Amino acid sequence: MVANAQQLVSPNHQFVLFFQIDEQGKPMYELQYKGKEVVAPSHMGLDLQPEGKKLTFENAGDVSVTANKEINSLYDGFKIVDTKSNSFDQTWKPVYGEVSQIRNNYNEMSVTLKQNKTDRVIVIRFRLFDDGLGFRYEFPEQKNLAYFVIKEEKTEFAMNGDHTAFWIPGDFDTEEYTYAKTKLSEIRAKNQKGIEGNASQTPFSLTGVQTPLLLKTRDNLYMSIHEAALINYAAMNLNLDDKKMVFQTFLTPDAQGNKGHLQSPCVSPWRTVIVSDKAADILTSKTILNLNEPTKYVSTDWIKPMKYVGVWWEMITGKSTWAYADIDNVQLGVTDYSKLKPNGKHGANTANVKKYIDFAAANGFDGVLVEGWNEGWEDWFGKTKDYVFDFVTPYPDFDVKGLHEYAASKGVKIIMHHETSSSVRNYERHMDTAYKFMVENGYNAVKSGYVGDIIPRGEKHYGQWIVDHYLYAIKEAAKYHIMVDAHESVHMTGLQRTYPNLLAQESAKGTEYEAFGGNAPDHTTILPFTRLMGGPMDYTPGIFEMDISKINPENHSHVNSTLARQLALYVTMYSPFVMAADFPEHYEKYKDAFQFIKDVPVDWDDTKVLEAEPGDYITYARKQKGKDAWFVGRTNDEEPRVSNISLDFLTPGKKYIATIYADAKDANYKTNPQAYTIKKINVTSKTKLSQACASGGGYAISIVEK
Ligand code: NOJ
Ligand code: CA
Repeated sequence: MVANAQQLVSPNHQFVLFFQIDEQGKPMYELQYKGKEVVAPSHMGLDLQPEGKKLTFENAGDVSVTANKEINSLYDGFKIVDTKSNSFDQTWKPVYGEVSQIRNNYNEMSVTLKQNKTDRVIVIRFRLFDDGLGFRYEFPEQKNLAYFVIKEEKTEFAMNGDHTAFWIPGDFDTEEYTYAKTKLSEIRAKNQKGIEGNASQTPFSLTGVQTPLLLKTRDNLYMSIHEAALINYAAMNLNLDDKKMVFQTFLTPDAQGNKGHLQSPCVSPWRTVIVSDKAADILTSKTILNLNEPTKYVSTDWIKPMKYVGVWWEMITGKSTWAYADIDNVQLGVTDYSKLKPNGKHGANTANVKKYIDFAAANGFDGVLVEGWNEGWEDWFGKTKDYVFDFVTPYPDFDVKGLHEYAASKGVKIIMHHETSSSVRNYERHMDTAYKFMVENGYNAVKSGYVGDIIPRGEKHYGQWIVDHYLYAIKEAAKYHIMVDAHESVHMTGLQRTYPNLLAQESAKGTEYEAFGGNAPDHTTILPFTRLMGGPMDYTPGIFEMDISKINPENHSHVNSTLARQLALYVTMYSPFVMAADFPEHYEKYKDAFQFIKDVPVDWDDTKVLEAEPGDYITYARKQKGKDAWFVGRTNDEEPRVSNISLDFLTPGKKYIATIYADAKDANYKTNPQAYTIKKINVTSKTKLSQACASGGGYAISIVEK
């Protein structure tokens, strides 16, 4: 950058941010880490839709109401009119989390820019933390920028080499893809071939990728690009100019192709760049959470992390059904539910749910998720009707009141399920009644879902309109003291700091795909570096029976993990809402290994990353909330490896007992996944462990005071 660039330095002096206006008045930034350029000079700003003459009563119908082309750009013709600096250092306590305290420490620079030809003013606010950068656009209230429509955001992230990227294709409707690991220059070819995924398979561009994006640079630096506090704005994708190696922002369009409708005063989400020479530092970064606002909820004592089981895996594997009747019997037109004949495979029947409640109570689980409890699935699956669910009408074999009383008597909560079928207006119309129904029947958590094309047609899963909806659903739920776990919604951006009743989301390829063909063995070594940068994932681990054909002879899927690694995921895949997804009978069969799932907590005082390399392995140690007990988890890719860790995080001088759940010598995720060993040993803070991990394996350790 030129000599007169403005500079901002991070509190630890490792990062320097440069900002300047070029000859055309275009704002530009550059980021350096330990003296090395990590984001090369990159443009910033927005392109607006032509404003057009205001439509009035008098000129209604006048086709000559046309655009004023001069005032579309919010990316050039600027001059700096003011610069302010600030420093911030405060520590806050999350309602739940990986650590009990979070330090929010940054230096800030806000630059006020004026566009002379339009008299418009915008502010670009930069915050530089000890592990990276956040910046956003702010639009103060003003006459010449009151209502505006975004054509495209022009933020760039210029790379200075052909880095290695861990990415999923750009998409506006799904993140349920396998990650690709390629050079930037290979993204185009890989996308062209098609990445295995489930849904639309229609990347908007052959060089499009989603965020959180992880890069390993040619200097062996790890870099994560994402966004924080996505509110009232379309979600960001990135489009790589693979000649110049520059990522350009590509916002999710609405049904008309516009990227956002804003009214000043307003702000964009933060754009984030987190960088370190240690992979572990990426995993422990709190910058995305820190860029979100503190919660405004008056009380949060009703928000409690949950460990749960559920009537779920049996539908996913095809053993039982969500629907009560055979879909084939459903005729075109609206189903008369009072006349349906049961298909004999309905999972959410009272007797079956009671079995899960008993199992939850006996093993210390907080909740039982029950999917397929409500009318509508026949119409939805049979494609006879779009607006199918009312979220309050149970099937005849699901006794809402009786089950509520039964669960309450055993100290267990039933978890509500709202499959919206992406009929978003229908959901909003019923939401209030549905939440009231939950409160009346003892539910305090809902898993919601957005499967299928968004209705109204033309909207996408990550556009501004539905981003607003997801947050509306969370805020409305808070009024009823209800916690939310949303599936198929937009990527997470740290909003759980402000709205802590958003316990978790799916927003990636979860364990369900182990029953739809299997997840890649390295998937869980990449997710914490990508998807989980935004927040907790409802990954639904804990599968002990890897051969799905034993559950459903027609399903030949294989779970690509050893049993020991399934235990490790309770530590490596952070979530305050975590499922033991397999059947009670499978847990009864491997009772000694199941003990780890019973013991593992869902809330933590502290977290250490002991070993980490994206795509290869991750080893975490976490300290249980309020107790001197530690849990270690290691997830390994398909390469057998030896993990070497030191237990120096334990309190010096104290004696502990460690129970190690590991892959047996002959374990292998494909051929011998259920071979594991369990041993107990005495350990202290001086103990060093060397542990073999099988192909697709891993291990879990619980460490308690002696
Ligand atoms: C997809 C979700 O990810 C899954 O967990 C759920 O069971 C189905 N949708 C049905 O709603
Ligand atoms: Ca899903």
